[in-house]
Amino acid sequence: MAAPTPPRTDDWWRDAVIYQVYPRSFADGDGDGTGDLAGVRARLPYLAELGVDAVWFTPWYLSPLVDGGYDVADYRTIDPAFGTLAEAEKLIAEARELGIRTIVDIVPNHVSDQHPWFRAALAAGPGSPERELFHFRPGRGANGELPPNDWPSQFAGSTWTRVPDGEWYLHLFTPEQPDLNWAHPAVRQEHEDVLRFWFERGVAGVRIDSAALLVKDPALPDFVAGVDREPFVDQDEIHDIYRSWRAVADAYGGVFVGEVWLPDAERFARYLRPDELHTAFNFNFLTCPWEAGRLRRSIDDTLAEHAPVGAPATWVLCNHDVTRTVTRYGRADTAFDFATKRFGTPTDLDLGTRRARAAALLSLALPGSVYLYQGEELGLPEADVPLDRIEDPMHFRSGGTDPGRDGCRVPLPWEAEAPSYGFGAQAEPWLPQPADWARYAVDRQSGDPDSMLALYREALRLRRAEPGFGDGPMAWLPSEDGVLAFRRSHDLVCVVNLSAAPAALPPHERLLLASGPLHADGTLPRDTAVWLRG
Ligand code: NOJ
Repeated sequence: MAAPTPPRTDDWWRDAVIYQVYPRSFADGDGDGTGDLAGVRARLPYLAELGVDAVWFTPWYLSPLVDGGYDVADYRTIDPAFGTLAEAEKLIAEARELGIRTIVDIVPNHVSDQHPWFRAALAAGPGSPERELFHFRPGRGANGELPPNDWPSQFAGSTWTRVPDGEWYLHLFTPEQPDLNWAHPAVRQEHEDVLRFWFERGVAGVRIDSAALLVKDPALPDFVAGVDREPFVDQDEIHDIYRSWRAVADAYGGVFVGEVWLPDAERFARYLRPDELHTAFNFNFLTCPWEAGRLRRSIDDTLAEHAPVGAPATWVLCNHDVTRTVTRYGRADTAFDFATKRFGTPTDLDLGTRRARAAALLSLALPGSVYLYQGEELGLPEADVPLDRIEDPMHFRSGGTDPGRDGCRVPLPWEAEAPSYGFGAQAEPWLPQPADWARYAVDRQSGDPDSMLALYREALRLRRAEPGFGDGPMAWLPSEDGVLAFRRSHDLVCVVNLSAAPAALPPHERLLLASGPLHADGTLPRDTAVWLRG
């Protein structure tokens, strides 16, 4: 039975559970091996039953898919591999009827090299107004054979590519993703129009890709080691852009979530001032190792940095760019760091799964909203994608040392006994699924009260039905070393044991939910969490 959808206020985003759909790998409706909107529409009842408030779709626009859709050729067209604009409109409306809001993904820092603007810029040549929409520059060196500056790409290698007429263009990611020039009024105008285009189609929110990278120091200076931040990160003028975006969103009641990777808490919080973005992803929490002290500090820092600007925190364990949670938590190093990803890292999946279950209860009990990446509710591990099937440019640009991000993007298993585990009618999806994934299939987990899916369904049901969850205050309770214990309103208590010893639970009236069995004497085993009504 689907949980009833309670009426939500305009502030729904302050405590929502938002499910991230990677459309290529969610469900394949037309049987061509690639996930699509038809697949999502058919599975909306699954999302309603899971109990999520909103769905964020990673880019579904026309794209050569060089970077999984983050290379957009047209923001107003759905890629034919995924469906049509009419289908997207139906999907948004159908989801809304089930109480699920839609968040689309806008990629303002760059476009695809197949975008009409970039093609026109290439054709028009040096000095043309078309080139002013991007960062084209002559090279350095006697014959302009050296890139204009030394900026390193986010995906390894240089950020500059030379075109046949001798000029170079800037791309913080792959050469197929030229950066837009945000000092140009047409770039600003176009993106505000794109925002309106999607708000008018009923979307409730927009996720902003690479949100801190848009503005570059106009001098494009070399990166001087030791300065506080790179000349392409978090430039002050960026806030002006988000202030005018906020005015657009406010006209529709829309909300933003920014992809803001910034170590400096004060700089991060500037994006969340009341006239800028509503929320931003909490990467501090996502990258934090499974250690009580570090997690507690991350939670405290998060709440402290959000409080002055009045923005709710978000709690994120995983997304389409990082190692799956059960895998990460099953390794010797439980932190996430792009720089240390390697093939063949030993992993204890039972341990990782136990911790991921506890982490789910932890993040769902913290004040604010929660992001849940597709497949996390199934406890999917990072898949080992065979070398000859890897598609992610991060792998290739690293010279092959970084396995890339395909391992967390493998198509979902829905039915244990069906070809491609029910992902689609075709046996071979775009990325191969591991041979032992039948056990993770939705139909198998649905009948098992001890499954990860059952835990998530029950946790989300309680989070809606019981008081004390979502936005609001929290207070730490005294606890033993390695134990996190905190109280929310209505005497809601969450205890997580990250120590090696069993932990005593505080006095309580009711056990709402446990991530695993308690010891016979009522103590909490290691790597286990509970929700109590105290
Ligand atoms: C962040 C996205 O999450 C990632 O998948 C993408 O590769 C980069 N931004 C570039 O758009």
